[in-house]
Amino acid sequence: MKNFDIALIPGDGIGPEVVTEGVKVLKAIEKMDTKLSFSFTEFPWGCEHYLKTGKMMDDDGINKLRHFDAIYLGAVGYPGVPDHISLWELLLRIRKEFDQYVNLRPVTLLNQSLTPLKSKTEEDIDFLVIRENSEGEYAGAGDRLFKGQPEEVVLQTGVFSRKGTERIIRYAYEEARKSNRTLTSISKGNALNYSMVFWDEVIEEVGKEYPDVETYSYLVDAASLYLVSDPERFEVVVTSNLFGDIITDLGAGITGGLGLATGANVNPEKQYPSMFEPVHGSAPDIAGKGIANPIAAIWSVSQMLDFFGEERWGKAVLTTIQDMVKETEMLTPDLGGNAATGDVGDSFIEKLKITADTIKVK
Ligand code: NAD
Ligand code: IPM
Ligand code: MN
Repeated sequence: MKNFDIALIPGDGIGPEVVTEGVKVLKAIEKMDTKLSFSFTEFPWGCEHYLKTGKMMDDDGINKLRHFDAIYLGAVGYPGVPDHISLWELLLRIRKEFDQYVNLRPVTLLNQSLTPLKSKTEEDIDFLVIRENSEGEYAGAGDRLFKGQPEEVVLQTGVFSRKGTERIIRYAYEEARKSNRTLTSISKGNALNYSMVFWDEVIEEVGKEYPDVETYSYLVDAASLYLVSDPERFEVVVTSNLFGDIITDLGAGITGGLGLATGANVNPEKQYPSMFEPVHGSAPDIAGKGIANPIAAIWSVSQMLDFFGEERWGKAVLTTIQDMVKETEMLTPDLGGNAATGDVGDSFIEKLKITADTIKVK
């Protein structure tokens, strides 16, 4: 029997609504597979907690999380608490403290009808964005001088260390090699004359170790065009923290929206727990209405299962997601359906049982 200890941080807005469905899926898997079990410990951290206690998480929160096998997070940030406080004291803090330097964000079109791109098919839109997740533009370094005065100057410093840049690029090359795909680096060396010139140099240097991997390099502005006009160019993409943030929302836009976009924040060395979460935020505009799409959060469960080495279950969950968006009308309004969050979760579990039997996962 294998047991995995999972820390739950449902967080804000629709975070708790979608995490509930992901947990349902894990509990259903536990019932179907007698060799697997999951235990859950929930932490009530987020903006409400902040308004009550003045803290986004407990002072020893990082230590409390340290021994879990994984963290499953909903969303963080809500009107009433400034975003730079809520995010820096919870989500970004966890990514940094646990050195989750790899952010794996698949951009995969599951059903042709979901893309706004005319004539693009499921074969055309299927790539993996590997986003640097520990430093770069998100280093949190900067200064604000002469506040409020006419000569005010604000600095936001990008930090690109050799170690940090090499390790993400090497990780991406390994991924491309392993899966026999091309690697595309997205950067901006023409304008960012320190950070991105360095990034491009490291791509060249590390690339010499991978002569078998076909490598492309695009400026982020041109890449944004190609992502819309020519998404079939991309297979594995490696990019910096901020560019990765932006292009993965763009990726969501061409594959059905944020309700279907997932991300794993991984510490590959497993020195610290990794964290699984949907790409979307707390969606204050639909929070509390029971219509949030839980599929992105359920896809994070698939990524978590892969990370645990339970790839057969990871695949069963992903196949079920695919069937669900292809074959049913049991979908939330963002995908054109009129189902409620909980009904999508329940129906997902019924389908997962059938998938598990069909692909003989047990
Ligand atoms: P958002 O992702 O919350 O919402 C953007 C749009 O997508 C909204 O119209 C929303 O209704 C829709 N949407 C998002 N997820 C959906 C889902 N599962 N089902 C259906 N529709 C969905 O982005 P925002 O509005 O810019 O940010 C809201 C708050 O969330 C802010 O405080 C922001 O900082 C925070 N945020 C947190 C995370 C995170 O925790 N990882 C990610 C992004 C934004
Ligand atoms: C994401 C989010 C976060 C990011 C924010 C909320 C800090 O947008 O996970 O994509 O920029 O990484
Ligand atoms: Mn984002």
